Amino acid sequence: MCGIVGIVGTEFNVGELIDDLQKLEYRGYDSAGIAYICDGTISVTKSLGRIKNLREKIKPVRSLAGIAHTRWATHGAPNDINAHPHTDCTGKIALVHNGIIENYVELREFLKSRGHEFKSETDTEVIAHLIEEHFDGDLYKAVLMTVKKLKGAYAIAVMHADFPNLLVAARKGSPLVIGKAPDRLILASDVTPIIKYTKDVVFLEEGDLAILKDGEFKITDSNGNLVLRKIYHIDWDEAAAEKSGYKHFMIKEIYEEPEAIESALVGRVTLDGPVLHELKEFDLENVEKIKLVACGTSYHAALVFKYFVEKYANIDIEVDVASEFRYRNIYVDDKTLVVAISQSGETADTLESVRIVKKKGAKVVAISNVVGSTITRESDVTVYMNAGPEIGVAATKTYVNQLVVLYLLGMEILKKKGIWNEDLENDFEFLKRSPNLFRKLLEDFKIDELASYYKNYNHFMYIGRGINHPTALEGALKLKEISYINATAYPAGELKHGPIALLDPKFPVFAIAPQGYLYEKIKSNIEESKARKARIIAITNEGNEDLLKIVDDIIYVPKAPDDMYPLIMSPVIQMFAYLIADMRGYDPDKPRNLAKSVTVE
Ligand code: F6R
Repeated sequence: MCGIVGIVGTEFNVGELIDDLQKLEYRGYDSAGIAYICDGTISVTKSLGRIKNLREKIKPVRSLAGIAHTRWATHGAPNDINAHPHTDCTGKIALVHNGIIENYVELREFLKSRGHEFKSETDTEVIAHLIEEHFDGDLYKAVLMTVKKLKGAYAIAVMHADFPNLLVAARKGSPLVIGKAPDRLILASDVTPIIKYTKDVVFLEEGDLAILKDGEFKITDSNGNLVLRKIYHIDWDEAAAEKSGYKHFMIKEIYEEPEAIESALVGRVTLDGPVLHELKEFDLENVEKIKLVACGTSYHAALVFKYFVEKYANIDIEVDVASEFRYRNIYVDDKTLVVAISQSGETADTLESVRIVKKKGAKVVAISNVVGSTITRESDVTVYMNAGPEIGVAATKTYVNQLVVLYLLGMEILKKKGIWNEDLENDFEFLKRSPNLFRKLLEDFKIDELASYYKNYNHFMYIGRGINHPTALEGALKLKEISYINATAYPAGELKHGPIALLDPKFPVFAIAPQGYLYEKIKSNIEESKARKARIIAITNEGNEDLLKIVDDIIYVPKAPDDMYPLIMSPVIQMFAYLIADMRGYDPDKPRNLAKSVTVE
């Protein structure tokens, strides 16, 4: 949802700012732009499309301060004029913005009546003009007065041509992180551009402003009072945020799944079973209701948790997409646990859901991949997924790690409630073995030919039952979001209530069909689909020859306990989608119209 970055310090080549911006490209890639101060004036360069187009326009200039932006358009079409940075009438003030200004129409009318002329159709441009209105020589004060007038969400970085040693930043609703290196201060929408300079970062909190000047930064609250914010140490390695020889981040991140799982399990696997130390203060024994809230892929992981835990315990478990949850009347009591899942930790709807239930007195456990992200600061406790940086827009290793952490959470709750049996023991053993099983699976399974055949279809129907239904949902989401094939998913039993009408030889069915609980049921659904002449591709467990007679194509995964098929099947559905997208000539890392971090509603 737009990425912003800013540097101020000793002289640097502005190309470095583009390198830093490149790390945020996954947040949006409609257009990009940069502004820097040179000889007392602000130079702005913008370009439609990817950051590489911008890079081609930039000369090797040196500067003391610069800001840059990669855009995911919300207001105004993607074009050069609407690209950030935006400037005021004097051209002395420039800013970049991530978020949405909800009252921009009124502000624009007011500013026009004061003689301001607007160049773009964006909501952002009003901020530059408002700062100009308030500016009397003190940029920080002008920004402080400006943000008081803004409704909506913003993370902004502002500079003024007369102050080449200064950047002013502010945040509300959109993330902003600051790092201090010996030769520069750097701010960014997330930590990925910062970790090459320093691993110690500070996250601005809601309503905070920051002054970055002469090698030091100060943070104030929205009333202008100085505040101290916690320093977070980010243990990510810079190389982990690079492609390391892979064609795309997505494929690299799928191959990183074994190590990612190992990191999610470290310290949480003991001789006594699973332990999430983060939850030691939580009264899990007495939890009677669990409400999980998330979006997209994270929502699918939440569904797996529901099927898993409710199989063993009489706990009332509800899963909702955050954009619905936040507008429902949610009842919570002291026996309710809310689990909010967001790999980025910045998804606007999920964050708002957390705020709403916290106001009602609920305890919230966040599951996130990003240390210090907003959700981790606003929830009571965070269980980190420890997947390392994920740059590909489509979630892969973070989905796998969400599942791992959710299985651990489920097991911890069940154990605390005195529920532990052979099935759960087998599940736990499987989890421990899963890094190696993933390694072998990723080495062995070759589905290029299959993908090459199926890439020519325009529709797909994914089906699954029980705990395998979320895998169907996730498989369809992965395929549609990166290959633009119309993929839809249903609980297999629902086919005959409508969707089966779609099936014909041009509409293949992708069946999630391990030989476990409900196997005979999904087999019948496969037969029904076959009878409509649909081509069938199925994933099942090794050793299942039964399906060979019915389906057209089959992909095997290692045999697993019933509960664990969503985990071991994840790399298969991800790889299938990846290969098809790549073979259709699309960039799976940057699907059209999407952004990794959805910081607007
Ligand atoms: C799909 C995908 C999205 C995210 C969703 C929530 O591959 O990545 O559906 O899962 O936008 O994002 P987080 O987990 O960051 O809240």
